[in-house]
Amino acid sequence: MSIQVLIGTADQELSTQLRTQIAELADVEVIEVETASGDVLGIVSSHQELDVVLVDEQLAPQPGQELIREIAMRRPHVAAVLVARRVDEDVLSRALEAGARGVLGRSPSLEELNSRLTSAAEWSRGMRRWLGAGQAAGEMGGRRGRIVALAGAKGGTGATTLAVQLALAAAAAGRTVCLVDMDLQTGDIPTYLDMVHRRSIADLVGVADELTGAMLADALFVHEAGPHVLLAPAESERAEDVTLLAARQILGVLRSRYEVVIVDCGAFMTEASVSSAEMADQAVITVTPDLPCLRAAKRLAGLWERLRVRKRDEISVVMTRQSRKNEIQPDFAARILGMPLLRTTVPPAFRALEKAINNSAIGRVEDDGFRRAMTQLGEELGVLPTPTGPGAGGLRRAKAEGT
Ligand SMILES: Nc1ncnc2c1ncn2[C@@H]1O[C@H](COP(=O)(O)OP(=O)(O)OP(=O)(O)O)[C@@H](O)[C@H]1O
Ligand SMILES: [Mg+2]
Repeated sequence: MSIQVLIGTADQELSTQLRTQIAELADVEVIEVETASGDVLGIVSSHQELDVVLVDEQLAPQPGQELIREIAMRRPHVAAVLVARRVDEDVLSRALEAGARGVLGRSPSLEELNSRLTSAAEWSRGMRRWLGAGQAAGEMGGRRGRIVALAGAKGGTGATTLAVQLALAAAAAGRTVCLVDMDLQTGDIPTYLDMVHRRSIADLVGVADELTGAMLADALFVHEAGPHVLLAPAESERAEDVTLLAARQILGVLRSRYEVVIVDCGAFMTEASVSSAEMADQAVITVTPDLPCLRAAKRLAGLWERLRVRKRDEISVVMTRQSRKNEIQPDFAARILGMPLLRTTVPPAFRALEKAINNSAIGRVEDDGFRRAMTQLGEELGVLPTPTGPGAGGLRRAKAEGT
């Protein structure tokens, strides 16, 4: 079905220009142009197949940003894109904060318009699949989402950083994503994502064997950048409630509802993190290029093997903060570990990460090498479409958005 677009603007010139451009796009259709914010909301509420709303920032009586906030609340699966006179970081961040999926200038190129509409529609359809889902098993037409579990060989090796970045990248590429904090004692995802939320995985334990969409939705936090987040309990004594069985049941339901489930297992093995490593399609150990850490990774792999969680050749290892200047290079590390490393290594990006975290902008790490590594890692772990794969366009579009 072609992409269904609603335009909200009282500006005749803008409306004519957008309609003329969209008429040139093969799979996009304008279902309506509305000139007042109330009428836009009316269509958004009643049109079941609507994918994208283009909202003129100068719309009245409710201004564009406010209208977008209301759309996000009433119909969270409809992708709103703000059309602004000026597109800069400030406008973009305010629009994203209101719940927009992007910002377009008033005279976008045809290519730009196409890519923005396509990626917004892909996101909207992904959300609709998730929200419209009724019964646990049938959520994605019986398909299984991909679980990637990341565990630190030691503390501070970058497991949470990678989990958060992979979740953001997969969401930006239009996939439905759930990020789970299974680092139950010391999980710190809220700090990285600059979020506050009271509910956690511990609230699901008592109902884990009959989990419904509504119960999940109640416990999850929906991050503005796309991922849904299931937190570790704020009171660490509740961590013990999350048993092996509960973790397995919860992850099973999440897998049936999301295309991608990223689990941060932390560096201390608990029943819940072991169970995550067991269920994962890929279990990844993060290491830094130093001997104590590599030995710790070897011990963790040995533990998983003895517990029959995973065989050694079913475990992946990713090296973070890797640079050519380090004494320990990936080939040597692989020999010490007795396991191959992932092709992707993650370069050091101390300043850029620090800046991104301090500015509550974890999705905008200003380090090209680090960003390239995240894309490559996402592709290697199967949470992002590969450039030659069927979803390649989605990835390029996501990158073009500069998210
Ligand atoms: N590639 C990198 N380059 C530089 N610094 C990094 C890199 N990856 C992570 N860091 C920094 O290292 C610190 C620890 O990272 P992170 O919290 O992701 O590790 P962790 O394995 O989750 O730690 P913990 O054991 O506390 O859960 C953070 O300050 C983070 O910004
Ligand atoms: Mg961590």
